[in-house]
Amino acid sequence: MKNQIRFYDTTLRDGEQTIGVNFSIDEKVALAKSLENFGIDAIEAGFPAASAEDFEAVEAVSEAVQEAEVVGLARMVKKDIDAAIAATKKAKHQTIHVFIATSPIHRETKLKMSKAEIIAKIQEDVAYTKSRVDKVIFSPEDATRTEPDYLVESIDAAIAAGATTINIPDTVGYDLPEEYGELFDYLHDHVKAFDQVAWSTHTHNDLGLANANALAGVAHGATEIQGTINGIGERAGNVDLIEAAVTLQVRHDHCQQAIGLNLQQATKIAHQVESYSKVKIAANKAIVGRNAFAHESGIHQDGYLKNPATYEILSPAMVGASASMPLGKLSGSHAVSAKLKELGYEMPIENIAHLFPAFKTLAEKVSIVSDDQLIALAEQEVAEG
Ligand code: KIV
Ligand code: ZN
Repeated sequence: MKNQIRFYDTTLRDGEQTIGVNFSIDEKVALAKSLENFGIDAIEAGFPAASAEDFEAVEAVSEAVQEAEVVGLARMVKKDIDAAIAATKKAKHQTIHVFIATSPIHRETKLKMSKAEIIAKIQEDVAYTKSRVDKVIFSPEDATRTEPDYLVESIDAAIAAGATTINIPDTVGYDLPEEYGELFDYLHDHVKAFDQVAWSTHTHNDLGLANANALAGVAHGATEIQGTINGIGERAGNVDLIEAAVTLQVRHDHCQQAIGLNLQQATKIAHQVESYSKVKIAANKAIVGRNAFAHESGIHQDGYLKNPATYEILSPAMVGASASMPLGKLSGSHAVSAKLKELGYEMPIENIAHLFPAFKTLAEKVSIVSDDQLIALAEQEVAEG
C-alpha cells in the first residue's frame, strides 16, 4: 500500500510575498476554507509578527478552519514566536514554524552570526516553542546552499530541542532534482534521529525546477510537500501544489505516494487564487491554464475526436475542467463538423466540404472562429442548399 503524501499550503504566507499581492482578511478566511475542502493537511496562515493585520488574519483563519492544521510562521525571535503562538491559539490543530538561515552567505552577510551562535539560537528557540506547543516545524533557510555537515548539525540541534517536522527549503530555487533528492539521502544517513521526525520539501521555482525538486524530495523520503496554489510566491514563486499533486496522480505507475486531495476542485481553487491575488494564470500553465486542455491544430483535433487519450494524459474532468477545440486556421473539417453537430447542425460531408473554404478564409482573418460566426456560415450553407 502506498503512503499518503501530506500537502502543506503556504499561499497565504509565502504566496502573499508575491509582488503586489495583498489578501484581505476575508479573502484569507475564504481561501483557507477552500484549501481545507480541497483536502490540504496544513495551512500556513501567515507571519503574525509582521503586522497587526497579519496577526488578525491568522487568528481569523485559526477560528475558521476545522480539520487542517493551522500554522503560524516565526523567525527565531521570541516576540515572533509569542505572536505566532497567540495568533494560532484557537486553532483545533496548532503548529508553529520557526526558521533561521544556515547557509554561509546568510550567516555572514544577513545575520552576521557565527555557526555556533546559530546552533545556540536553534537550541534555545525550538525548545522555547516546544515548551508551549506540541507541533514545531524547523526550517534551516537556504538549506540547499548550506554546508551539508553544518546542515546536519543544525537539524540535530532542532530535533534534540523538540522539533517534530524538519523542512528543507531550497529558498532560492538553486538545486537540481538529483541534488535535492541526494540531500535527503545524505540527511537520512547522517541525522541522528531521522526517523523520529517528519520531513518536508519547500522548493522555489527560480530555475523552473520547483515541481521536479519537490518530487525528487518525496522520492527520497520526504512525506510532505510545502507549496502554493498557482505557484505564487517570492520572485519566480514556489512549487504549485496542484502540479505536484496531479503529477503524483497521473504518474502513479511510477511514483510511490498516494494523494488525498479532492482534485476536482483544483481548477476552481486556482481561479479563486487568481481572482484574489490578481496574478493572472498563464494561458499555457500546466493543468489550470486556459489552454491546458485546448486542441487547435487539425491533426490534434482529429486524433482527439477519435480518442481523447491521443493528446490528453489526464482527463480534464479529473481537475474540474473541460476540454475545448478552438477552431482556427489549422483546424480540419472533422473538427468543424463536430462543432457544427454540437451546435445543432448535422450536415452531410459534402456540405462541410463546401462550407470549409469559407471557414478557412474567415479563420485566417479572425484567428479563432466563434460559435456565432460558424453558425452564420452554416445558415448560409443551408440557405444556398
Ligand atoms: O523559502 C524559504 O526559505 C521560506 C522559509 C521561511 C521556510 O519560505
Ligand atoms: Zn519559501
